[in-house]
Amino acid sequence: MSTKEIETNAIKMVAAGKGILAADESDGTIKKRFDSINISSTEENRRSYRELLFTTKGVEEFISGVILFDETIRQSAKDGTPFPTLLAGLGILPGIKVDKGAKPLAGAPGETVTEGLDGLRDRLKEYYDLGARFTKWRGVINIGEGLPTPYAIETNTHALARYAALSQEASLVPIVEPEVLMDGSHSIETCYEASEATFKCIFEELSKQRVLLEGMILKPNMILSGKDCSSRAGVEEVAEQTLHCLKATVPDGVTGIAFLSGGQTDEEATAHLNAMNAAGPHPWELSFSYGRALQAPALKAWVGESDNVSNAQKVFYHRAKCNGAARSGSYSAEMEKEVAAA
Ligand code: 13P
Repeated sequence: MSTKEIETNAIKMVAAGKGILAADESDGTIKKRFDSINISSTEENRRSYRELLFTTKGVEEFISGVILFDETIRQSAKDGTPFPTLLAGLGILPGIKVDKGAKPLAGAPGETVTEGLDGLRDRLKEYYDLGARFTKWRGVINIGEGLPTPYAIETNTHALARYAALSQEASLVPIVEPEVLMDGSHSIETCYEASEATFKCIFEELSKQRVLLEGMILKPNMILSGKDCSSRAGVEEVAEQTLHCLKATVPDGVTGIAFLSGGQTDEEATAHLNAMNAAGPHPWELSFSYGRALQAPALKAWVGESDNVSNAQKVFYHRAKCNGAARSGSYSAEMEKEVAAA
């Protein structure tokens, strides 16, 4: 393991004004996204779509890293340039999702555990050789009647820490992603409790398993009301509760926190991050590692038609720019008019 390499790359991943694009949708998830625009999930459609994102002119101003899927890290742009080489040429760090998805947790109805530890050491070596410099693993925590159980929190955080230690051993920066889902009608307080228990447990596990905090990025959910909650908390409350929860659970030594968007609307995800950074400075960089909240408008504008590529790139650039501004608390709703006017 090169401590210096992972510390340097962790700092790059949360560079000022920038964040991470999560483009690591598994086959099942990208199919769902493509179904929503009525195009079929062929290998060539997936490749073209990812090329559209990665070749958006100027996107490197706001994007420090891209999380790829196993298929994508092996694909190339039309001109034959492998995606990891293309990204590295723009100064964007290539990363890779290494988990194998959330599977039902034995003896715990309604809960899951993320799999993928078997053979991980060998896969990490291959990914490093393919150009990856960081990794991602997502553990999923459900809120429900009597959920989450301590059993689900412990098994998921234990696996996350095992993955993180192996990644660092391979000189890859682990993105440690414990996601408390926003599905349900629960209150923001319930989300706070489940998240606090999860984040506490993850740092206990990371410490036991000797993970270097300076060489990792935490990718948590924000503290939100459930999607179907009848009175959802507003931007200021979300920012306040999220900061409170993170300050209570995340050690100062962690280089950066890069939120997932988790089903928030694009503009909500930007406004929440902006409000948190406006209330800074904080002990860690507060950034984004969004999938849907960065891609949704681009996907809609593209709908699989090559004639729409430049318009889709324009809206993708705009979302990246808005989130880049949210890194310093300088985003405003006014910025949303720029793309409409363009
Ligand atoms: P969303 O921002 O769409 O939640 O995706 C982020 C991610 O990488 C989930 O693992």
